[in-house]
Amino acid sequence: MKVLVIGSGGREHCLVWKIAHSPLVKKIYCACGNGGTVDLAENVDISPNNVRDLVRFAQEKRIDLTVVGPEAPLVGGIVDKFEEKGLRIFGPKKDLAILEGSKVFAKEIMQRLGIPTANFRVFYNFNEAKDYIYNRGVPIVIKADGLASGKGVIVANSLEEAEKALELIMVKKEFGQAGDRIVIEDYLKGEEASILAFIDGKNILPLVSSQDHKPLFDGDKGPNTGGMGAYAPAPIVGEDIFNKIIEKIFKPLILGLNKDGKFYKGVLYAGLMIKDNEPFVLEFNVRFGDPETQVILPKLKNDLVEVILATIEGRLDRINLDWDERFCLCVVLANGGYPSTYEKGKDIFGLEKISCLEDILVFHAGTVKLEDKVSKKVKFLTNGGRVINIVGLAKDLVDAQKKVYSAIENVYFENIHYRKDIGDKALKYLQT
Ligand code: AMP
Ligand code: GLY
Repeated sequence: MKVLVIGSGGREHCLVWKIAHSPLVKKIYCACGNGGTVDLAENVDISPNNVRDLVRFAQEKRIDLTVVGPEAPLVGGIVDKFEEKGLRIFGPKKDLAILEGSKVFAKEIMQRLGIPTANFRVFYNFNEAKDYIYNRGVPIVIKADGLASGKGVIVANSLEEAEKALELIMVKKEFGQAGDRIVIEDYLKGEEASILAFIDGKNILPLVSSQDHKPLFDGDKGPNTGGMGAYAPAPIVGEDIFNKIIEKIFKPLILGLNKDGKFYKGVLYAGLMIKDNEPFVLEFNVRFGDPETQVILPKLKNDLVEVILATIEGRLDRINLDWDERFCLCVVLANGGYPSTYEKGKDIFGLEKISCLEDILVFHAGTVKLEDKVSKKVKFLTNGGRVINIVGLAKDLVDAQKKVYSAIENVYFENIHYRKDIGDKALKYLQT
């Protein structure tokens, strides 16, 4: 089989790496890939949002399967476009990718189906939204309706902050049309976890739990990012909570969609807040998470391509997932300045020192690989906000932390920034 992976982050390097393990696969392309995917796949210089050229490329190369990493092409309808041409692709169609593409859509469907989520109101008008916030008080959460690269959610702890957020989204139009309407929802105090599941239209096949770390700094301080690290499994999701997530969230959603004549195919990711042992949905994503994928797929023993094909063909009821029992932990090495502005093109040192370490995996994100044609010497340069993911596997979480953080000591680039506390939140559950 020839497989095309769309995207260029750590998630996509991990997808390429896992797909490369499949005996079904002869050749992998990655559009547009990064300095890590280039060793396992042929990087193709087509943007993930250039659907027309991606369709053309898939036709020309007779691609057997396309796997989409990021949300924007899914929300834009890439699956419909590929399927119109008879091309096999993994992910939901446009009418269901809107679960991620519109927070209003997601909240309204959850409300209709009785899926636990924070109380909310939808606003189209700045003054009405402002009045609501002054009546409701803080903390409160303001969400731009549409896609905003993970930056469209503001947790406001003061009325001033809340008003600023409204201005940013509704008046200054920081996120463009994504801010034409907003969701304002009650703040939920608890601990976050992510559950991803393969859905084949009807059957739900959950993956191991994981926990992302969205804020930039240790102790969950600073602005939200795409994710600064993760681990799996997430001990906060015990059996009881896991069952509630399936029974109260995934099942009602998939059944409700089926009743509307809609069949979700792909990976569905529920971002959850666990509060007093009850799960609440913060968001749905219609794709693999980043960096959650980097801690989930190294634990998956199955052939990912087989699972993807079973999802597309509606036969997940015949698949059992088999997991490596160890903990997997990922720390993201980011560019100082991310998630705002940062410089690119800085040398990355030390990756060769960790490439052979046992139970350590390196997934590139914002990197490029350069090779000197004469000396054949290879070097990597920074090329994005999140630069490298260092992933480690170990029997217990503390050992996984030690492995990853000691590997990181070998790696350096100018302005490197990473969180030093990935995994700490889980320790309280493991000590009791
Ligand atoms: P979202 O993109 O909706 O998942 O929101 C991004 C982040 O904002 C989440 O990962 C949470 O950390 C935070 N957040 C979103 N909604 C709420 C809420 N209702 N209560 C508390 N924190 C929230
Ligand atoms: N880790 C958060 C996301 O993938 O949206």
